[in-house]
Amino acid sequence: MINFKELASKYKTPLYIYDLDYMTKQFEELKEAFKARKSILAYAVKANSNLSVIQHFAKMGAGADCVSIGEVRRAFLAGVPSYKIFFSGVGKTDDEIREAIEKDILYINVESEAELARIELIARELKMKSRISIRVNPNIDPKTHPYISTGLHDNKFGVEIDTAKRMYIKANNSDFLNPVGIHFHIGSQLTELQPIYEASVIVADMVRSLEAIDINLKFYDVGGGLGIKYDKETTIKPYDYAQAVLSTLKGLDLTVICEPGRFLTANAGYFLTKVMYEKQNAAKRFVVIDGAMNDLLRPALYGAYHKIEAITDSKSELSKADIVGPVCESGDFFAKDYALPNLEHNDLIVVHSAGAYGFGMGSNYNTRGRSAEIALKDGKARVIRKREEFEDLISLEKEFLQD
Ligand code: LLP
Repeated sequence: MINFKELASKYKTPLYIYDLDYMTKQFEELKEAFKARKSILAYAVKANSNLSVIQHFAKMGAGADCVSIGEVRRAFLAGVPSYKIFFSGVGKTDDEIREAIEKDILYINVESEAELARIELIARELKMKSRISIRVNPNIDPKTHPYISTGLHDNKFGVEIDTAKRMYIKANNSDFLNPVGIHFHIGSQLTELQPIYEASVIVADMVRSLEAIDINLKFYDVGGGLGIKYDKETTIKPYDYAQAVLSTLKGLDLTVICEPGRFLTANAGYFLTKVMYEKQNAAKRFVVIDGAMNDLLRPALYGAYHKIEAITDSKSELSKADIVGPVCESGDFFAKDYALPNLEHNDLIVVHSAGAYGFGMGSNYNTRGRSAEIALKDGKARVIRKREEFEDLISLEKEFLQD
């Protein structure tokens, strides 16, 4: 049981809290599920890019799935070995590509023909050979929120199978490219197994058709996307997930890579806030808390559900309230019509499942400093990111003020 009261009084609010032991448990369960094959569990750094969180996974042997050179640098800093780091994303800059090649990471995940040409050009300039993998778009509906669906031809990600084949042949004939892997990722917060299985059947066949022309890949990256329980979702069991993927790979000698983010961190995280005011108008009851959409954007952006827990001595009847933050936007809410007792100033509100896509999607909107982050391990708490102060927010602007 986490002592939220103690943490609030010691570290102040709003506060992000991550239970590293929970992350360990999730990691081990998924790793175990893939044990029938050589595998790399690569943590999707974007889900929660705090250095100490990445380091925690690195110590368990995780790789890192990165989508900017900033994330690649974080992975290195946190101790992930270069041979377990890869770099995806539809718009990598020349500088990012150059640095990735120089840093000799496992591979760059290529997302278009134009990008393949740029990588070849840059590798040629560097007189190096760049290991690449191609992200294929299997055109499978992942049955998740449209904003986090990525494996349909409507989405900007990856290339179609035929295009990918052309690209592999080109890469294989190049002195500066070394095609080593294949990648797909159909979406996030997946709660149905069938779309993953169907995508994997298509991509594994593609690997076979490449073998037929003597292009032999080593890495088979199934992306991330395993869903979690925010509310009452039925989720996919890691074992079933691994079995479904592995069943499509018969006869292929490949290292399987899986790049989960949310599954590893979401339910390890709590966003702890304080109640400031209760406010009632003719139509509605509002509970105003000290955290806001700049700290946790998911409800505002996706209408996402996060379980809310009130920590209070109040024994009053429950009534429905909107839980809102201080930012000047009507979208600044954490929950709508949520049943809560009457709350007092300084009671606590805990927003659950906040460990993935929480802090990382935060901003300084309304000149609000981002929260501190705390890690819990073996029952002990430690700061892993300081609270941002006003001075931090203006430090890159101050020098440009004019007389
Ligand atoms: N691999 C690739 C190529 C990805 O694009 C993503 C997530 C992952 C792995 C990790 O997916 P996960 O295992 O965490 O589902 N901000 C949204 C989620 C965006 C996901 C973006 N890509 C949210 O808050 O729900």
